[in-house]
Amino acid sequence: MTDQALLEMKDVTVEYVTQGQRFDAVLGITLDIAEGETLGLVGESGCGKSTISRAIIQLPSPTSGSVKFRGRELTGLSQKDIRPLRRDFQIIFQDPISSLNPRRRVNDIVAEPLIIAGVKDKMEIDRKVREVLKAVGMDPTVTLDRRAHQFSGGQCQRICIARALIMEPKLIVCDEPVSALDVSIQAQILNLLEDMKERYGLTLLFISHDLAVVKNVSDRVAVMYLGKICELAESEKIYAAPAHPYTAGLIATIPEIDRGRQSNDIGKPLRGEIPSPLNPPSGCRFRTRCPEAQEKCSEEEPNLKKLEDSHVVACHFPPV
Ligand SMILES: Nc1ncnc2c1ncn2[C@@H]1O[C@H](COP(=O)(O)OP(=O)(O)OP(=O)(O)O)[C@@H](O)[C@H]1O
Ligand code: SF4
Ligand SMILES: [Mg+2]
Repeated sequence: MTDQALLEMKDVTVEYVTQGQRFDAVLGITLDIAEGETLGLVGESGCGKSTISRAIIQLPSPTSGSVKFRGRELTGLSQKDIRPLRRDFQIIFQDPISSLNPRRRVNDIVAEPLIIAGVKDKMEIDRKVREVLKAVGMDPTVTLDRRAHQFSGGQCQRICIARALIMEPKLIVCDEPVSALDVSIQAQILNLLEDMKERYGLTLLFISHDLAVVKNVSDRVAVMYLGKICELAESEKIYAAPAHPYTAGLIATIPEIDRGRQSNDIGKPLRGEIPSPLNPPSGCRFRTRCPEAQEKCSEEEPNLKKLEDSHVVACHFPPV
């Protein structure tokens, strides 16, 4: 891993309109991902994880803020200017079966990004399709002519990964790549992503609602709550010594057997529902569910503050 940031997001906000009301699905997101790093992004459903992944690939571009890839600003570029850059950042989605057209042949699915990019040499396309299918553990001779609906969820995710790899991207945004898969298959796909990272020199943004999964694959982890980052640290650190009550709550909800520690030695399990982003609580967004909340928490919003190198937290009363 080098220190050079491959991706830099600064003060990114994405606004949506729902029921005639504008709201910020994500607000003031500042994150960078170093070349060769895996950054985990974790948080409950609806906190804005997919909105961030879409803002990175500019589909759509964020409402405000900056997204730089290799130092080049992506926001504000025309479709024509961004198209050639897109080959460097690919995305893999949560539900592999529905993200593939069931009636299309594997060969056409995997070759499609090359064809869209204007590659015409049929032999070159065939060579690359076979190479990436082999890399993801699929035998091209028996898969090329079969259709997507003839494969299991895990096999479909392998095909999606092959399709992302064929462009030889620098960054892959993995938006909950294993959450729709059986537990036994999840480990295979996670191992495959690790292998592909090594083999192709990839940088990964790994999104999940499951902190246990994220921790195992990530160098650093960013925790999101209701559209904002509330903690960011190296993955070992955030797991062993979370500084935000929300992170501690996420850890406390991981089954003991996966956590490898006593249930009462870290935070309290999360209670209550995530509030609506249309009407976030005053002050700290987490205060309605926080076991440590005090008066100040409803009056003043905590900013992200550095606790130590590469560990930042947005809480008025983090554990010392
Ligand atoms: N196109 C849209 N228009 C209006 N609201 C949207 C749109 N897309 C997402 N939202 C809302 O924005 C918020 C963030 O959604 P997002 O999909 O980014 O969350 P998420 O963290 O990826 O959730 P999940 O874990 O369920 O995938 C949610 O409240 C969601 O309902
Ligand atoms: S600022 Fe207050 S409410 Fe928010 S996480 Fe910290 S203690 Fe809890
Ligand atoms: Mg999502």
